[in-house]
Amino acid sequence: MSASLPPEQNRLLGHAAECDGIEEYDNPLPTWWLGILYGTIVFAMVYTADYHFVNHRSQAGEYDAEVAAAAITWPTPDASALANVPLTPELIAAGKAVFESNCIGCHGTDLHGGVGPNLTDLDWIHGGTLENITKTITEGVPAKGMITWGPILGPEKISQVSAYVHNAGGGN
Ligand code: HEC
Repeated sequence: MSASLPPEQNRLLGHAAECDGIEEYDNPLPTWWLGILYGTIVFAMVYTADYHFVNHRSQAGEYDAEVAAAAITWPTPDASALANVPLTPELIAAGKAVFESNCIGCHGTDLHGGVGPNLTDLDWIHGGTLENITKTITEGVPAKGMITWGPILGPEKISQVSAYVHNAGGGN
């Protein structure tokens, strides 16, 4: 393409000697290329002005909005409220199913533990009352590898599995 440019636009910069024989043309950039460059600059300025000053949006604001929306979609169950759910055999049976699909990998089929602690003895790291158990399951212990189950299971399954663990374990 450069060969078809008029000679005054088809200059060699003439530094082949310093650059191991690599020569460089000093051609003007194609108009379409400059058009894209200036177009993106203009777009960025308009977009920035619109984002920050017209719509007053921000990353922090979007984060807060998403967190607020998530809190509505996946409400964090209140441990004390769930702990007041009556422990019926149906609730405990439903909890066994939840336990079997989510927890046996770490706590074992018989709740005797593995990666996670034994849930049938009287030793509780985080307390063995129904409320303590519900709270530990809901909030998890992320630093120790126990998952925050509240948002994953939702209030109903949390109360079921808490009832099962409390019933099967050395709850007090
Ligand atoms: C990825 C492994 C893992 C899975 C899956 C898991 N846990 Fe845990 N769990 C742990 C670990 C590790 C601890 C110990 C936390 C600590 O040391 O504080 C724990 C602790 C607990 C405790 C507290 C025990 C105590 O002594 O206070 C309860 C209750 C519990 N898990 C219930 C559950 C339930 C119910 C499920 C299924 C919904 C589950 N866990 C799934 C790893 C797991």
